[in-house]
Amino acid sequence: MRIGSLQIAPGALLAPMEAVTDLPFRTVCEELGAALTFTEFLSAEALTRGARKAVDRMWPSLDGRRFAVQIFGREPGVLARAADMAVEIGASVVDINMGCPAKKVTAGMCGSALMREPELAAALVDAVRRTVPAAIPVTVKHRTGWDEASVNATEFARRLVDVGAAMITVHGRTRAQGFSGQAQLAPIAAVRAGLPAEIPVVGNGDVKDVVGYQRMKSATACDAVMIGRGAMGNPWIFRSLAALARGQPDPGPPTLSERHRVWRRHADLCLIYAHEKMRVHELRKTLAWYSRGLWGGSQLRQNSGGTNDVAALLDLGEAFFSHLAGSEQGDPDAPASLFTTPADPVAKSIARNVRRGGSDQVEAEEPVAPASMAAAS
Ligand SMILES: Cc1cc2nc3c(=O)[nH]c(=O)nc-3n(C[C@H](O)[C@H](O)[C@H](O)COP(=O)(O)O)c2cc1C
Repeated sequence: MRIGSLQIAPGALLAPMEAVTDLPFRTVCEELGAALTFTEFLSAEALTRGARKAVDRMWPSLDGRRFAVQIFGREPGVLARAADMAVEIGASVVDINMGCPAKKVTAGMCGSALMREPELAAALVDAVRRTVPAAIPVTVKHRTGWDEASVNATEFARRLVDVGAAMITVHGRTRAQGFSGQAQLAPIAAVRAGLPAEIPVVGNGDVKDVVGYQRMKSATACDAVMIGRGAMGNPWIFRSLAALARGQPDPGPPTLSERHRVWRRHADLCLIYAHEKMRVHELRKTLAWYSRGLWGGSQLRQNSGGTNDVAALLDLGEAFFSHLAGSEQGDPDAPASLFTTPADPVAKSIARNVRRGGSDQVEAEEPVAPASMAAAS
């Protein structure tokens, strides 16, 4: 796929997610085949006033990989200056958030509130487009509309493309829907049909596995798919989707040792890049994510809540994966099955494979709660 003059590798995009798409998580997703990752949304006003909280979150991807910085605001000059800052740190794409439904954002008439002000939205894109170098695509992520009565994604996207938006991502819900119900695919298809073919349209909403990806692609004819919640604890979704996009067979779910390795990679990146005050929280998060659906995961999550010590948290994770590895090696003291009742797509698909191979039993340990999410946008 091309975004303006930028060629993007085949595969799916990692959605911007507040407090989730930090550098460690983006890195893990990129290493597993995400075609492009986005920072969480950053306030243009905060960036330009030099607020550390915002500036420190604008991390360039490692090893020179391409990445998008997402910004939000409603003052064209401020947004343009923030875009410049993103370009200065090496962003390959500047994305403008016009989809956030959170009150703290829409009350300032930013995010999805801009869908009710297409002329201001166009002025924002225009200001950013005029400021950043031509080689840097300016893109927008928005919803299907403000509410059911005002679904305007197609006209809105057209207006933004008129003033230079090089790619449009549509989350298939209105602002009023928040995260409830199911993402609607018809408005995404309408945006695809309503824009020039050279402007890529990205479909977003509820894609958690290969089947969901194929449904999104075939129902909307979108050029690419963006994955948010489905990648939390399952960055391997990008490996599968990159293979499919290249016309290769799906490599399938991770092995236990791949889970172990990626958990450790993610944890190590948190130790390097997470703010000191957040390290324990981030490590606990990695333990929760990568143990989901695995035998003993609930106990691990409980145990990790009982310590604030980084080394002890790492030891808990290592012991957890070693114990499970014993079950693969026939250790009689290890659990008979790696998996609990599968509640997440990775566990589900691994369990399905295991069942097909007849090599193991899938047993219920406890219901597995979905990772908690602060559904900010
Ligand atoms: C915790 C969380 C934080 C989010 N933060 C942002 C954000 O900063 N910018 C944005 O455009 N969308 C944000 N979103 C919305 C996602 O990018 C995505 O549009 C939405 O989750 C639907 O896709 P999914 O079903 O694949 O998760 C956020 C979603 C979640 C769950």
